Amino acid sequence: MSLDARERLIVALDVPSVAAGEAMVGRLGDAVRFYKIGYQLAFAGGLPFAARLVASGKRVFLDLKLHDIGNTVAKGVESVAQMGATFLTVHAYPQTMKAAVEGKQGSKLRILAVTVLTSYDDADLAAAGYEMSVKELAAARAAQARDIGVDGLVCSPEEAASLRDIAGPGMVLVTPGIRPAGSVTGDQKRIMTPARAIEAGANYLVVGRPVLEAREPKAVADAIVAEIEQTAKSQGV
Ligand code: C5P
Repeated sequence: MSLDARERLIVALDVPSVAAGEAMVGRLGDAVRFYKIGYQLAFAGGLPFAARLVASGKRVFLDLKLHDIGNTVAKGVESVAQMGATFLTVHAYPQTMKAAVEGKQGSKLRILAVTVLTSYDDADLAAAGYEMSVKELAAARAAQARDIGVDGLVCSPEEAASLRDIAGPGMVLVTPGIRPAGSVTGDQKRIMTPARAIEAGANYLVVGRPVLEAREPKAVADAIVAEIEQTAKSQGV
C-alpha cells in the first residue's frame, strides 16, 4: 500500500471549540491534510465543521466509536458517508461491524474497528463479563473484523506488527500513541516514534498533543511527515 507521506499523518483535533479547531487548521495550512475529530469537538459543533473541512479538500476521520443495534448503526453510518468523511470508528462487535460495512456501501468511507479499548486490562474485561485476556479478545476481534470486511483497525503501535499478521496486507492500521523523539509523553503509556510505528506496519499515524501544544505546530507536523517519508522510503512501504 503506497501512500504519500503527508496523507499518512492524521492530526487529532482535540480542542474544545470550532473556533479553536479553525485556528489550528489555519496555522497548520498545507502541512496537514487529514484531521481526526472525536467526542469533544464533535459535540461542540464539530460535525458541521467536519463537513466544511471536507468541502475545503481536507480528509476527516470521525472518531465516534459507534455501537448500537444494527439498523441504527447502518443508518448512522450512511449519514456519515454522505458528509464525506474518510474514516469512522466503530466498536468491534460483529453485529456492529456488519451493520457499519452495510451502511457505507457505495461510498468512499472506510470503517475502522476498535478491538479493545487500551484503557482496559484483563481485570476490566473480567469485570465486564469476558472470560478472555485483552490479547485474546483483541486478536479474536481483529480476525472477525477482517472476515466481515471492515477496512481497518485502530491499534497501539506496539500491537501493529502482531495485528498485521491477522489483518493481512489489505487492512489499514491506524495508530495513536505517537511521540516524536524529545516530545512530552503526556498520559500515553505505550508510545513509539513515527519511524518505529511505520516500521511496525502502521499505515496512518494519529498525533494530537505533540502538534497541538507545540510552539510551532506546522514545523512539528512537517518534521513528522519527513520522518514518515524517510522511513517509508527505506522500508519500501
Ligand atoms: O494527544 P495524543 O497524541 O496522545 O492524542 C492521541 C489521540 O488518539 C487522541 O485523540 C486519543 O483519543 C486517541 N487515542 C489514543 N489511544 C487510543 C485510542 C485513541 O490516544 N488507544
